[in-house]
Amino acid sequence: MAKKVYIKDIAKHENEEVTIQGWLYNKRSSGKLRFLLLRDGTETIQCVVFKGDVSEESFAIADAIQQESSCHVKGIVKKDERSPIGFEIQVKEMKIIQYAEDYPITKKDHGVDFLMDHRHLWLRSSRQHAIMRIRHEIIRAAREFFDLRDYVLIDTPIFTPNAAEGTTTLFSTEYFGRDAYLAQSGQLYGEAAAMAFGKIYCFGPTFRAEKSKTRRHLTEFWMIEPEVAFFDLDDDMRLAEDFLEHLVQSVLKNRRQELEKLERDISKLEPVKAPFPRLHYDEAVDLLENAGVDFKHGEDFGAGEETIISEKFDRPVIVHHYPAAIKAFYMKRDPEHEEQALAMDVLAPEGYGEIIGGSQREDDYDVLLSRIREHDLPEDAFQWYLDLRKYGSVPHSGFGLGLERAVTWICGINHLREAIPFPRLMQRLYP
Ligand code: 4AD
Ligand code: MG
Repeated sequence: MAKKVYIKDIAKHENEEVTIQGWLYNKRSSGKLRFLLLRDGTETIQCVVFKGDVSEESFAIADAIQQESSCHVKGIVKKDERSPIGFEIQVKEMKIIQYAEDYPITKKDHGVDFLMDHRHLWLRSSRQHAIMRIRHEIIRAAREFFDLRDYVLIDTPIFTPNAAEGTTTLFSTEYFGRDAYLAQSGQLYGEAAAMAFGKIYCFGPTFRAEKSKTRRHLTEFWMIEPEVAFFDLDDDMRLAEDFLEHLVQSVLKNRRQELEKLERDISKLEPVKAPFPRLHYDEAVDLLENAGVDFKHGEDFGAGEETIISEKFDRPVIVHHYPAAIKAFYMKRDPEHEEQALAMDVLAPEGYGEIIGGSQREDDYDVLLSRIREHDLPEDAFQWYLDLRKYGSVPHSGFGLGLERAVTWICGINHLREAIPFPRLMQRLYP
């Protein structure tokens, strides 16, 4: 048996005999030649089968094999200038593992519903490979960013006794005779951990029963949430811009080929460097008015407004000091303007909208208790959270980055459903 290698490492084996194992991606025939494009997950490579070079059995396999059949190919690695990876395989022997027939995803244009129903197979396409590898790079870079800064990774629970982000998007589930809710955010537990470790981050799946069918909402998405003791809103905004710069610059450095595959306009990502422009909510409203938008001061921005605001800048823009009335119960108010929350959202350029939401947290026991009451939240479920304001309360802040929002923007694709391996949407629970 020749040495088993991955296609990605093929350059190290020039003129050697190797075995690769994979799936047929594409095939072309010409007289006594069969050109098999094989993929093994790491890369694809052309394998050339010449009738005179192989046994009858091997040639019969090359003849019969259809898309997504699995096989072993033994052959010699040859330099080839025309190949995208610089090499091809001169086949000596073919072994079939399983013959696939009538693979449902073909070259013709399939509708999105069809592709989503076949998501388990669609992931094999080169476009999905590019997106998933960029997603992986964003996760890697995010962990690296916080790990290098001595943040402790804290995993927060998914079953929780209370809401963090409003009761309208809660998923509830029966929990041994009482109700539990799927976490909308790890933040509240992150705050407890920040009081224990100073600076922490959590990274996990979060759930929202979003009844909207937009291209920006999933019901299950992943969030990266740092939380830092002794941080005010300004510190929080600085952390967010450094973090996003690191993510984008890492993808530009390490995943160029994938960005090219997606035909991403890289000139739109290159300027993503700190500092980012900052707008007070009032300034953002002025900007909308000047752009001729009919917008009522005090309301939240919709996708359309976010697009108009972010279009004015070549990098993400931070909007801060939103009206407290439209923001979460835990946000601290500006001491000089009680009606404003010490909140910030980061809006991505090119119409991608909000990718980060964050704030300074209310750190006063009595004020927080009155907010919990104002929001009609169950006081007893929040006892532990109130404790954090009783035992060494300090100013603290944090934010959450929606991973799929970041992936969608950085990839330049137009819907969150392609930014996660198996998307969960209001009308999609399969596959
Ligand atoms: O703005 P949000 O609701 O903030 C929080 O959850 C805070 N607890 C975070 C924190 O301060 N630790 O959500 C944060 C981000 C949004 O900016 C968006 O990127 C993403 O999470 N997000 C969603 N992504 C996909 N589908 C949804 N339904 C999302 N809802 C929010
Ligand atoms: Mg938000």
